[in-house]
Amino acid sequence: MKKTTKTILKKKGVEKIAMITAYDAMFAKLADSADVDIILVGDSVGNTVLGYDSTIPVTIDMMVHHTSAVARAKPNALILADLPFACAHYSFDKLLDTCKRLVQEGGADAIKIEGGVEIADKIAKLTRAGIAVMGHIGLEPQQVLKLGGYRKFGKSEDEKKRIIDDAKALEQAGVFTVLMEMTDADCASEITKLLNVPTIGIGSGSGCDGQVLVCADILGLTENPPSFVKQYAKIGKEIVDAYSQYVTEVRNGQFPAK
Ligand code: KIV
Repeated sequence: MKKTTKTILKKKGVEKIAMITAYDAMFAKLADSADVDIILVGDSVGNTVLGYDSTIPVTIDMMVHHTSAVARAKPNALILADLPFACAHYSFDKLLDTCKRLVQEGGADAIKIEGGVEIADKIAKLTRAGIAVMGHIGLEPQQVLKLGGYRKFGKSEDEKKRIIDDAKALEQAGVFTVLMEMTDADCASEITKLLNVPTIGIGSGSGCDGQVLVCADILGLTENPPSFVKQYAKIGKEIVDAYSQYVTEVRNGQFPAK
């Protein structure tokens, strides 16, 4: 059965939410076969698949392209698409048009937006317009140019208070979930207890209502995954072994068989 924002909201305190990224129909089908709750078409497509160093170069056209590929797999999982770099700071009309593209052309069921208090008023207007929004706070990878790198958030009392304020403002704005990335585990647990909507963590400890990981990290396709990642397979090695065997067999005439 198709999973909706209602399915996800009802899981809070009942069952943990499992979310995985996918960027095309093939991997969306595989994730859906594992009964994942949410497929995230993350802007991590930039560094995972498209060869960029970060998510910054990812455009709305790229996001629509990859989201529509995932949607063509017709997954039961809720399809969540990332709003790319800086788009949350457009004028509201342009922001709404951008979100409309992800929903109408891309087939997204919901949109994930990085940012807290500073964009809460715009998120409130988006949710009133009928867009389902997941907030994304703690480490916001789209801030990497300003930050000068990636790091953990919410360790100091000041930063913890700011993240709690962000989470509360997003809930008030009508988001159906809040994602916390690289957030101090105690801070993430406290926020999970404070909010009525579910929280999803990545590198933020076990106290969240759900977890998300990048598909390539889970599968062993990335060379240097972040330290919080658990690798559930080593598919990268299997692919290289299979390709090598094919190359050898083509060269020595074993394939195709006579
Ligand atoms: O783009 C992405 O994959 C993400 C996850 C890291 C949460 O935003």
